[in-house]
Amino acid sequence: MPRLLIDTDPGVDDAFALALAARAPEVDLAAVTTVFGNVGLPATTANALGLLAACERPDVPVAAGAARALVFPAVREAGHVHGEDGLSGQSARLPRHPGLTPGGAVPLLARVLAESPEPVTIAPIGPLTNIALLLAAYPDLKPKIARLVVMGGGLTGGNSTPAAEFNLWADPEAAYRVLVEEDVPTLLVPIDLTYRCAVDGPWLDALRDSGPLGALLESFTPSYRAHYTSLLGRDCTILHDAVAVAEAILPGTLRTERLPITVQTTGPGRGAVIADRRLGVPPSPGYREIDVAVDTDLDALRALVLDRLR
Ligand code: BDR
Ligand code: CA
Repeated sequence: MPRLLIDTDPGVDDAFALALAARAPEVDLAAVTTVFGNVGLPATTANALGLLAACERPDVPVAAGAARALVFPAVREAGHVHGEDGLSGQSARLPRHPGLTPGGAVPLLARVLAESPEPVTIAPIGPLTNIALLLAAYPDLKPKIARLVVMGGGLTGGNSTPAAEFNLWADPEAAYRVLVEEDVPTLLVPIDLTYRCAVDGPWLDALRDSGPLGALLESFTPSYRAHYTSLLGRDCTILHDAVAVAEAILPGTLRTERLPITVQTTGPGRGAVIADRRLGVPPSPGYREIDVAVDTDLDALRALVLDRLR
């Protein structure tokens, strides 16, 4: 069975994504690593542990990674979106987990890659700090990465600044390293698509009524849902990271385009992705061609996520 690694900063939408991966019959969730991001590392790590316990997957090893960006500390976390504990103030509902795997995120990722007979997919759904460190420290393991399915970026604007999406903005140097400098096969799942995959009130009601895991996940959403509902002027909850993980467990779920991209690291566009859509022009220096998710069957995706989280 294909193996999957998740690097995450739970986070309400990360919680949905983790549950999706933990319950997927198509993949073997080999490990979860945590990174600072939506909230600080102690909270993202505690949330990842508790979520795996809630999914009845205490067998999945969890290790803690970077507590800050590679070069410049991130200017702000996203507690105003996800709550100060990362789960809308509901993290105390999570069950206990046997505990962290010692040694840290990068050694755990490296060990899984080294020991896997087949290349492994990695889904980074937070700032890219741990993945940049992994690629820098273990370049010999790059052939063991089947694909990076990265949630991040916005081709037509950001959500943290006018230009930059949160995961890339939180560590632009790491994003540049992973997305532009390295040569590992990469699919970027940007907010242009994840916003279109919003779920609504009836979808959340169905989730809540579907069983204990669905009820737990739904309990994390009220303030998160209120944030997006006031932002977008209609009842909606955006499960960004779950869109990327759906593709990681079922390749082909998202329609992709191959585009030369770069990540800006300076100026008002710091953390922004630029995609070069000009026709007949070879990729400019400082750009790399990667796959970018541009579309999906929205109803099929929502049905898939709901079905798996029941
Ligand atoms: C991304 O930023 C975080 O707040 C979410 O968890 C997601 O990974 C969306 O921009
Ligand atoms: Ca995230």
